[in-house]
Amino acid sequence: RNYIHKESLSSTNDMAKELAYKVPDGTVIVAEEQTKGRGRMGRSWFSEKSSCILTSVILKPQIRPEKTVALTQVAALTVVKAIEEVCSVKTKIKWPNDIILNSKKVCGILTEMSSEIDVVNYIVIGIGINVNCTEFPDDLKEKATSLQLELEKPVDRKKLLASLLNNLEIYYKEYEEKGFESLRPLILENSITIGKEVRVIYTDREIRGQAIAIDKEGKLVIKTEKGEEIALLSGEVSVR
Ligand code: BTN
Repeated sequence: RNYIHKESLSSTNDMAKELAYKVPDGTVIVAEEQTKGRGRMGRSWFSEKSSCILTSVILKPQIRPEKTVALTQVAALTVVKAIEEVCSVKTKIKWPNDIILNSKKVCGILTEMSSEIDVVNYIVIGIGINVNCTEFPDDLKEKATSLQLELEKPVDRKKLLASLLNNLEIYYKEYEEKGFESLRPLILENSITIGKEVRVIYTDREIRGQAIAIDKEGKLVIKTEKGEEIALLSGEVSVR
């Protein structure tokens, strides 16, 4: 596969977007350090040099733009599987894109795309895993953790990255050949969100209710207190 490794980048997602039209489907960018790592909702993404996995994968599937939410979850499943394979520990997916270990966030995924009205040009899946970092800024300490902190031993970053990319290839292929439907049961099985009472900030609305399903397109279905069912394409979920 086409693989680019850099000591330092502003953000692997930024480089991926710059290169997207010039490189083949499946190109992987990895950095030891990001000076402007980005998270969702315009937030920044903290990382410690050479102790995290900071990677972006460029994909060019022939899909409609609204299908990308499903692809983010395929990536989330991939992370769960890779961590399980290399660290023998089970993490959970907090819809749509956080990976949780012992109630704290150990990985975030930022999916960005360029599309026409009815077809995607490219998708960049940015994955940040806190592997061996041991110090977080004060404002993150309660919410974030790393594999090393939770397992109380360092994790082989190369092995984890290799497993991540292998699993991504496997699941992405399955997604392309059989569709999201085929992976949905596995995603549900590893979800921390389904069945829980949640509060979702969606655009400027707050929705409370029970997360009851992830639908065929990867949307989160919430049953509100009034009994109404709403399917969300994105949003900031807190599990209550
Ligand atoms: C989030 O949880 O808000 C998403 C975080 C995504 C972080 C990764 S690190 C590699 C890639 N490059 C970035 O700038 N962001 C993503």
